[in-house]
Amino acid sequence: MKKRVLAGIRATGRLHLGNYLGAIKGMLILQESNEYETIYMVADAHTLTTPFDVAQLRKNRREVIIDYLSAGLNPEKSIIFLQSDIPEHFELAFYFSSLMSIARMQHLPTYKEKIKQYPNDNTMSLLNYPILMASDILIYKAGLVPVGIDQEPHLEVAREIARKMNQKYHTDFPEPIRFITKGEYIPSLTGEGKMSKSVEGSYINLTDTIDVVRKKIRSVATATKVGGQMTKGVQTLFTLTDFYLPEEKNRFKQAYDNGTLQFVELKDAITEAIYKELAPIQEKRYDIEKDTTYINSVIVQGAEKAHAIARQTMKEVKEKIGLL
Ligand code: ADP
Ligand code: TRP
Repeated sequence: MKKRVLAGIRATGRLHLGNYLGAIKGMLILQESNEYETIYMVADAHTLTTPFDVAQLRKNRREVIIDYLSAGLNPEKSIIFLQSDIPEHFELAFYFSSLMSIARMQHLPTYKEKIKQYPNDNTMSLLNYPILMASDILIYKAGLVPVGIDQEPHLEVAREIARKMNQKYHTDFPEPIRFITKGEYIPSLTGEGKMSKSVEGSYINLTDTIDVVRKKIRSVATATKVGGQMTKGVQTLFTLTDFYLPEEKNRFKQAYDNGTLQFVELKDAITEAIYKELAPIQEKRYDIEKDTTYINSVIVQGAEKAHAIARQTMKEVKEKIGLL
């Protein structure tokens, strides 16, 4: 049997370059490798773990499916589905929660960051976030998970749960590991932290026009002085250069060190290169988004395939726990 891969992205907004380089690129590599059975979902229920708007969620869960398809995820090769269509994820998460202490969950860095960001929304669903994520992965017995580095603490929880389940109930869950890509950490355009949907001004959307990309890249803060220690904004520009202009990186770096670099030249070169990658995705999106019937059929067929696997795992787990 082929090794399984599972990945997901929350339906909190339109996808950005960090999501693409850190998660989707890995999803594409594994889809095309033929060595794996690839299962990709939209973690729409996970959106409820932080404040959200109902109408936005309804729209975004479909938008992420459209972004996936535009970026090259292929329903003939991968199972593509919406998390909330498979109720077994939530059932298994409840059983998993019996193995994890409240203290363990409260210590996760992602949890601490979120309660700082939303002090009035310190909910059970937020505390349970990583347990549901473990269930998303383990219900398909997936051993490989293409996600950015920020998700590593969640994968540790998934491995811990797999170990505990196997010890206590003699199940055969794999201990899932992260599939690492070069783009595992794309910095924010503000120069502080990572590019993120929830930080305005930090990201480039996959749907941004070249003019919007140019405007955003041009507004990355640079120093008046060229050379010496790089400011955070300049570091961000060089990280993007690393990805998009590998052959020219040394030339730009030398110009920086010599004090001759024109930031606008570097910024416009980065813009052109980023847009070259975005343009085909946008063209594909233009066709796909009009085809509601196709999108619906991808979602329905994906759910059917995912459900068949999830049902089987649930049956095994319930037997082992003593509930069947
Ligand atoms: P956001 O922080 O923008 O809300 P998500 O938490 O929805 O992004 O992340 C979706 C996926 O994209 C995850 O696998 C995450 O690791 C990856 N990802 C998000 N931001 C970045 C980034 N700046 N660099 C690399 N990967 C990222
Ligand atoms: N926590 C992931 C994120 O914020 C989303 C996610 C939910 C996920 N369930 C998953 C990722 C299962 C990989 C596997 O991006």
